[in-house]
Amino acid sequence: MSKTVYILNGPNLNLLGKRQPEIYGYDTLEDVAANCAKVAEEFGITSKLMQSNHEGQIIDWIHEAREKAQGIIINPGAFTHTSVAILDALNAYEGVVFEVHISNVHKRESFRHHSYVSLRAEGVMAGFGVEGYALAMRRMGSLLK
Ligand code: DQA
Repeated sequence: MSKTVYILNGPNLNLLGKRQPEIYGYDTLEDVAANCAKVAEEFGITSKLMQSNHEGQIIDWIHEAREKAQGIIINPGAFTHTSVAILDALNAYEGVVFEVHISNVHKRESFRHHSYVSLRAEGVMAGFGVEGYALAMRRMGSLLK
């Protein structure tokens, strides 16, 4: 059976392409899903992109991934900097976890410099624009093959 990678996105990322394009660019989450699917396919992996503005929903998807996905690529949006609950959920997950930020959070306000999710992630992409997702997927592919 082919392996599955969940690409989880947190609050406000549904507005990708429209929201602060000077920071996040003009590509949409649909573009991200298509680019990641293309890379995943090269490795025979199935990718599934999801987005929610609700912390509990993201936690439920991480729980679901325990049974259904061998890897998680997560951009938790602002929950990155606040959510111990998402960190706890990821700590209860045994697959590979990569964290992605479209912008370089370290170049921005100091409250964006700390990430709870980084305490769990095997790798972090920040500041590579939406290409960071596809790059994370490529690394996921080589780890999972
Ligand atoms: C973000 C960075 C976060 O600080 C911010 O709250 C986001 C997006 C990024 O992709 O650059 O919503 O995760």
